[in-house]
Amino acid sequence: MLVCPTREEIRALTAGYRRARRSVGLVPTMGYLHEGHLALVREAQKWVDKVIVSIFVNPTQFGPNEDLSTYPRDAERDLKLLKAEGVDGVFLPSAEEMYGSRGGAFVEVPELSGILQGALRPGHFRGVATVVTKLFNIVQPDVAVFGEKDYQQLTLIRQMVRDLDMPVEIIGHPTVREADGLAMSSRNVRLSDDHRRQAVALSRSLDRAEEAARTERNVTSLDALIRQELAAAAVGKVESVDIRDASTLEPLGDTLSGPAVVLLAVRFGTVLLIDQRVIGKI
Ligand code: PAF
Repeated sequence: MLVCPTREEIRALTAGYRRARRSVGLVPTMGYLHEGHLALVREAQKWVDKVIVSIFVNPTQFGPNEDLSTYPRDAERDLKLLKAEGVDGVFLPSAEEMYGSRGGAFVEVPELSGILQGALRPGHFRGVATVVTKLFNIVQPDVAVFGEKDYQQLTLIRQMVRDLDMPVEIIGHPTVREADGLAMSSRNVRLSDDHRRQAVALSRSLDRAEEAARTERNVTSLDALIRQELAAAAVGKVESVDIRDASTLEPLGDTLSGPAVVLLAVRFGTVLLIDQRVIGKI
């Protein structure tokens, strides 16, 4: 496994693969890897000959009051895990390497970046779209794998790739969960014991919504059911519960008429947890 701290080195590695007619997959991450990330690596290995993982805590997707400085990091452990998975190359740049000479160009997906999580975190999705574009340009992968847990991010990246004709296939991978249902996230380690216990209510409320949507098609009733479930578990601050069209994230009318996605964001102290579930599949 080759670890490349510079754009030049990772470009040389993937150019070599392409010359040898090997397909290349990219799994972009911000490090502090867990089983969820490793599942993305294994998914990528099904699609391509060579898998590259990027580890970069991207400053442009953090707001001024967000947790950039306390975001967990452990590159040494990450590299051991990736080596054990048989990853071929790791792009591990510094912020200076990624943005040092930047003049301020950015990528924006306006319809999707200002809604839902984007309304709560102004600038976040512009940072994501910009860094993912840079990673695609640097690594030039044939496919890239993202988790469905960050559903809005995945939807936005799919649209960006479509709208800008980027020659990369985007693969979404289902959320990987702890035994009690909590979606895996690098942020989970920052939950207090009490918050960790309460956090299971996110997936439990999604289970209930999914089950209820088999017979209940009224969107307001489903929304109320989810909020009741969260309130009963006395969880942290419910930032948002949204039920949207599963492919466009547009608001729904009163009645579910096809697949919808439930998007939850709940704050536990300083830790914002998100989760999602597609319901109402026919
Ligand atoms: O999902 C993440 O970890 C990040 O948003 C990503 C896609 C690696 C971009 O920094």
